[in-house]
Amino acid sequence: MNVLFIGDIVGNVGRSALKRVLPALKSKYNPHIIIVNGENAAAGRGITATIAKEFFEWGIHGITMGNHTWDNKDIFEWIDQEPRLVRPANYAEGAPGEGMAFIKANGKQLAIINLQGRTFLPPIDCPFRKADELIEEANEHTKNILVDFHAEATSEKIAMGWHLDGRASIVVGTHTHVQTNDDTILPGGTAYITDVGMVGPKEGVLGMERNAVLHKFITQLPVRFVVDEGKWHLHAISVQLDDTSGQARKIEKIRLTEDEWLMM
Ligand SMILES: [Fe+2]
Ligand SMILES: [Fe+2]
Repeated sequence: MNVLFIGDIVGNVGRSALKRVLPALKSKYNPHIIIVNGENAAAGRGITATIAKEFFEWGIHGITMGNHTWDNKDIFEWIDQEPRLVRPANYAEGAPGEGMAFIKANGKQLAIINLQGRTFLPPIDCPFRKADELIEEANEHTKNILVDFHAEATSEKIAMGWHLDGRASIVVGTHTHVQTNDDTILPGGTAYITDVGMVGPKEGVLGMERNAVLHKFITQLPVRFVVDEGKWHLHAISVQLDDTSGQARKIEKIRLTEDEWLMM
């Protein structure tokens, strides 16, 4: 099975880049299942029902989230009705939504699990123990498991890769919006990358308009960030899995800028 995972979609620029490039990604990588991280899809803050619906209409099969899950209050009204969208599983007991989903498409099945890190992020339940629990549960249905570990520290993400090696098919990091150059297949057969990257404005700071971010760094005053309007870049990974063993055969980074796209 081929799985395409696309990094954090940031705002309107990210959404329209995704819509434009998706058909080309589909024909080049032939994904059976496509997952995106949607935590910044609504103007950088969370996701709305309309946006999620649009993603599904374009052929996205599942959405993972992160620390911006609750930013758009609209989500509280529909998250429990949308099993294809998962929020970090290690949030407090009783939080709305689910941290794992079984995505079925094109005759294939993939369990998707979302977890959030605790280093340089608000304290939450242990992502490592939660991962153990959910992988055991997923194994009752499938060996094909993708974990989106939404975390700040490279060390915490690398540690999660080792923790799940041979137990998850794919462990991807998200949240930092910068694609790392360490894509690999770990010895146990897990496809791993510390951060997939993002889809959205390239000339800001992680997708946000750069002058506001600079102003904050220089003056240390509170500043409201807005999503930048400029040119986009898109980061994703394509993974080939052996469906029977759940082991990864190949991982490939995808990195495309608007300028490159316009020249294609
Ligand atoms: Fe993000
Ligand atoms: Fe994040």
